[in-house]
Amino acid sequence: MSVRLTTPRLVLRPPVLADAQALVAALDHRSVLRETESWAYPSGAGVFRARIEGFARQDPRHDATFAICRSGVPVGLIGLHRRKRRVFGLGYMLSPRYAGRGLVTEAAGAVCAYGFERMKAEAIVANVFTDNLASRRVLEKTGFDFRGEVAPGWSATRRANFPRVEYALERAQKAACYKASERSA
Ligand SMILES: CC(C)(COP(=O)(O)OP(=O)(O)OC[C@H]1O[C@@H](n2cnc3c(N)ncnc32)[C@H](O)[C@@H]1OP(=O)(O)O)[C@@H](O)C(=O)NCCC(=O)NCCS
Repeated sequence: MSVRLTTPRLVLRPPVLADAQALVAALDHRSVLRETESWAYPSGAGVFRARIEGFARQDPRHDATFAICRSGVPVGLIGLHRRKRRVFGLGYMLSPRYAGRGLVTEAAGAVCAYGFERMKAEAIVANVFTDNLASRRVLEKTGFDFRGEVAPGWSATRRANFPRVEYALERAQKAACYKASERSA
């Protein structure tokens, strides 16, 4: 995948091995990885490198992972991953140093627009730990609708299951994600 998306403040492009150290510095924090299902804290450079190699092997019709770059520096990851035909899951994480500036909302808007336009998504879905209010707010700002509680999800960092809720953005409502991608803080 060699897609490059731009928003007012960000470049979103495929992660490369040379990003591994910057991504470790940005993301290898308990406060970040505890909110994901599959990343254990600490992950370390080896895991980041292996993940980046995995992203490079993804079938671009089914998966698209982007480094979130601010002023040329990778500060986060965001991606779409096919769940079933025409339905994709959205995931993201950002360096705590850059949180609270609207950056993930901007990135999520652009990635969802890419999903609808280029991956032919009919719907984009996100599952979030119920108490992750910042992530829930990102989804609301990107136009997602609250769908309700779903089965608890595993946190590899916390080594336990936690309650989760689901949000979804349908193709018919995609105008909201374009707006989110253009918004500045
Ligand atoms: C959650 C996360 C993605 C947010 O990224 P971000 O760039 O800071 O998000 P934005 O600035 O676009 O929006 C965050 C919103 O949440 C709000 N928020 C932040 N902390 C909050 C809290 N504790 N309670 C309620 N709202 C909160 C902010 O005020 C903001 O809303 P506003 O614009 O209406 O004021 C980022 O902090 C992160 O990567 N966290 C760790 C990993 C993670 O949670 N990934 C998602 C897994 S589903």
